[in-house]
Amino acid sequence: MTEKQIVFQKACWIKAPSEAFKEEKEETVTAEGTGGEVVAGRSESEKEQLNPVFRKCFSLQKTPVRAVLRSSACGIYRIFVNGSCVSHGLLDPGFTDYEKRIQFQEKDVTDLLSEENEIRLLTAGGWALANLLGQGKHFFRDHISVIAELSLFFEDGTCEIIGSDESWECFSSFLISSSHYDGEVIDYSAEPELLGCTVADHLESNLFLQEKEPVARQERIPAEKLIITPSGKRIIDFGQNLSGFAEVRVNGKRGDRIVLRHGEALSGDGELYTKNLRTAKQQMTYILGKDGMNILHPYFSYQGFRFVLLEEYPYQADPADFTAQAIYTDMKRTGIFSCGNEKIDRLYSCILWNQRSNFIEIPTDCPQRDERLGWLGDAEVFCRSAAFNYDVYSFYRTWLKDVASEQLSDGSIRAIAPFNRNGYPFRTSAAWADAVTIIPWELYIQYGDTSCMEEMFPVMCRYVDYLHSAGPEEYLWLSGNHYGDWLALDGPDPRHPLTDKDFIASAYYAHSAELLVKCGNVLGKDVRKYKNIYSEVRKAFRERFIKEGLPTAMTEAGCALALCFGLLEEEEKPKTARKLAEICEGYKNRLMCGVVGAPLILYALSENGYEKTAFDMLLCEETPSWLGMLRFGATTLWERPDTFTEEGIKDIRNASFNHYMFGSVLSWITECAVGIKASEDGPGYRIFEWKPLPEERLGKAGIDFLSRAGRIKASWEIRGKEVIYSLKVPGGVLAGVCLPGKERMELEGGDYSFAAPL
Ligand code: BGC
Repeated sequence: MTEKQIVFQKACWIKAPSEAFKEEKEETVTAEGTGGEVVAGRSESEKEQLNPVFRKCFSLQKTPVRAVLRSSACGIYRIFVNGSCVSHGLLDPGFTDYEKRIQFQEKDVTDLLSEENEIRLLTAGGWALANLLGQGKHFFRDHISVIAELSLFFEDGTCEIIGSDESWECFSSFLISSSHYDGEVIDYSAEPELLGCTVADHLESNLFLQEKEPVARQERIPAEKLIITPSGKRIIDFGQNLSGFAEVRVNGKRGDRIVLRHGEALSGDGELYTKNLRTAKQQMTYILGKDGMNILHPYFSYQGFRFVLLEEYPYQADPADFTAQAIYTDMKRTGIFSCGNEKIDRLYSCILWNQRSNFIEIPTDCPQRDERLGWLGDAEVFCRSAAFNYDVYSFYRTWLKDVASEQLSDGSIRAIAPFNRNGYPFRTSAAWADAVTIIPWELYIQYGDTSCMEEMFPVMCRYVDYLHSAGPEEYLWLSGNHYGDWLALDGPDPRHPLTDKDFIASAYYAHSAELLVKCGNVLGKDVRKYKNIYSEVRKAFRERFIKEGLPTAMTEAGCALALCFGLLEEEEKPKTARKLAEICEGYKNRLMCGVVGAPLILYALSENGYEKTAFDMLLCEETPSWLGMLRFGATTLWERPDTFTEEGIKDIRNASFNHYMFGSVLSWITECAVGIKASEDGPGYRIFEWKPLPEERLGKAGIDFLSRAGRIKASWEIRGKEVIYSLKVPGGVLAGVCLPGKERMELEGGDYSFAAPL
């Protein structure tokens, strides 16, 4: 997928005339930045954009043999030809750095045309106009614009182009308001009003054909039950936290008003909990346009929710009238995991739903509050797990283009992409910025495709050059503004965790340099300079941060980094692994580390002789722990595993119930517990290793995984004193098999079964 940059031939960007803006308003806003800083209160003066509908009517004297419609928006849009929706996805044109690159969509509309024709675009602000972090500022711009071009090809070889220009009309919409975070007000009784002709707009962004999958409707979940809260309010419970919207069927009268509020949890007093949404309203208002049956749903906004409060609902509440519609990027499902432990199966389901809820156009941190951003750290730690569940290659690859395009001139990488220029200045942080080396490498290992790596290679080089010059030491990354082992619970404040940030940053410096060398070797580049940087960084790291064979950061994250990033000599590993196991046991195997430690800790344990401690941690149910979240009814993993306790929801800033960071544990489950791991020698599973860890508390475990090299099935099952192992190797694939107590074997395509004592 090399992006095809297209210049529209006759169309220009158009926007609504000034009638499509509400009166200017003055607003004073005070908000908190993501680092907890208070962004000073300030006065905003802005015009509020209505959601224009753009229209072009035209006649055709002759029938075209082919008609191709290209369209896009800076905002969000749905396009109709003669009343038929021809949009690719629900949230076109998708979320990119609109100032630099905007995707467009292309559709063959030949069969829809007749003598008299109409092209209509329904629009809203979407991401481009979103009020990020409640700061009262638009993410990119303060108005919506669209572009469209219909190319008509006739039998006689001629071609005619109808492009958006100032002859297109602009109407008011039944979408009275539509906000990414706040929800929509839809008035079906409102008559469209002609606002005038459109005005040409200027946008310098390059247009690229969208090649990745669009956002689409996915699972439909019927309401589970109706809850009457202690204060007498009615809440519909769907039994699953997700991203999307509630579809409601009502038998009502024109003019009836319905207001629905969405939330992820109920608070201790049994009412809808919305504090964790921060300033996001997640509210849908509908005004019916006709008597009788009406099916209601939003157009351009989605909510992160499990519960819907019927704030205004002038009917009997029947759960049968409510369906939760999940939406996410239409990726191909590739992996299924199951085991003999019902709680671990539920944990898996939580992680799967975390991914579904946050893979909407870009990898977001969470789907509910006024944030929903492409945080690089979250995306990086979850990448391998994500690649088990779904084919995420073009999803990540497209998003990485924005990560790349926003690299600063000194090579540094901000912590979110797409980056917004109007809001909080996101910093360069270790483990977040390193997504530029880690994700392309992971994608290569998982899919065996070098194209993303090739595209990202110059970015990686500039990034490692930046690390080389950052801070006072050439081969260490000291100082800087890092998130560290973000949200670890091993210190007094999870937002300022215990593990030394210089230690973490320097460990990532080494890791990124090493991955850059590996990528360069695969791509046949000259990486001598970076090989030298890597060995110098490793040396400097060891001199400064390894004392008597042990990491100076004596925390879970510190030990895990040292063990997993190759920063210890072989003979030093047992000592650090023992210390790590002791720390874990000291915490009673609870999950005390944060975003940096959690993806690595079980690997660090099980790969160094502490398999039992790894399972103890995985299976721990005491808060904070993975399974501890399930005790409080989690159906998606949370941002902090201690958010809900016996005393109710903790009043904390990071109380999202749908963050996938801790779902990074899935890759350990599939790669170590089940034991299937792609090999660097045959990326894309052309060669893979099978090294299972049968565990009585799981009873059995297996995966069914559609790799790019074919379907792999692997499972083990404990039957009495015996373990039965089964493996399906696709044709043309080589599996290196290490079963407990057996000699290593190499197996080619075929179905295998083995029995061995437990
Ligand atoms: C996000 C995280 C993110 C973090 C940076 C938070 O607000 O939700 O997931 O990685 O900020 O530390």
